[in-house]
Amino acid sequence: MYRFKILKKWLIYRFAKIAPTSRIRINLLRKLGARIGRNAEVYEDIVVVNYTDLKHLIIEDNATISPGCMLILSSYHDQSCITNYKKPFKEKIRIKKGAYVGANVTIFPGITIGENSIIGACSLVNKNIPDNSLAYGIPVRIKKLYFKKQVACP
Ligand SMILES: CC(C)(COP(=O)(O)OP(=O)(O)OC[C@H]1O[C@@H](n2cnc3c(N)ncnc32)[C@H](O)[C@@H]1OP(=O)(O)O)[C@@H](O)C(=O)NCCC(=O)NCCS
Repeated sequence: MYRFKILKKWLIYRFAKIAPTSRIRINLLRKLGARIGRNAEVYEDIVVVNYTDLKHLIIEDNATISPGCMLILSSYHDQSCITNYKKPFKEKIRIKKGAYVGANVTIFPGITIGENSIIGACSLVNKNIPDNSLAYGIPVRIKKLYFKKQVACP
């Protein structure tokens, strides 16, 4: 029974990666526990590590996740010797309202990306990004504070 549940989740996740529209992708990710707000966009080929931890993924209203992003929510390394000094863990990733994550970005566990912030393509996000900022690079660097005050989304 447990194996069947995991297989079902895996199939939903695999389909979410290749589904033809953002709306289908989002609905499938929600089925797996992700919290995704209104008017959010999730493009194809995102990788969530691990897909059984999707309840730790929060994508707020009007946020965009571009193609090929990798969202790392957890690490299970029970079989490895590193378990002696680093316990397996799960942490939330939160993409706040109106944030835009460019293509092929990797986001580490526990990270929050601020409201209306832009993360440039191919960045490695290993620290929290404040609201209204433009950031990119490996590791990510904040380049500027973009908006002086809150922008209104449609
Ligand atoms: C981050 C971004 C918005 C910056 O745009 P911008 O402010 O117009 O920046 P510019 O193009 O003027 O580039 C300024 C400098 O930053 C560098 N740069 C820009 N984006 C970068 C990135 N993602 N990673 C590393 N360096 C980057 C440029 O090479 C340039 O360097 P230089 O000054 O040495 O020439 C844009 O480059 C980007 O990554 N957009 C996301 C595109 C994407 O993922 N689309 C998916 C479609 S769904």
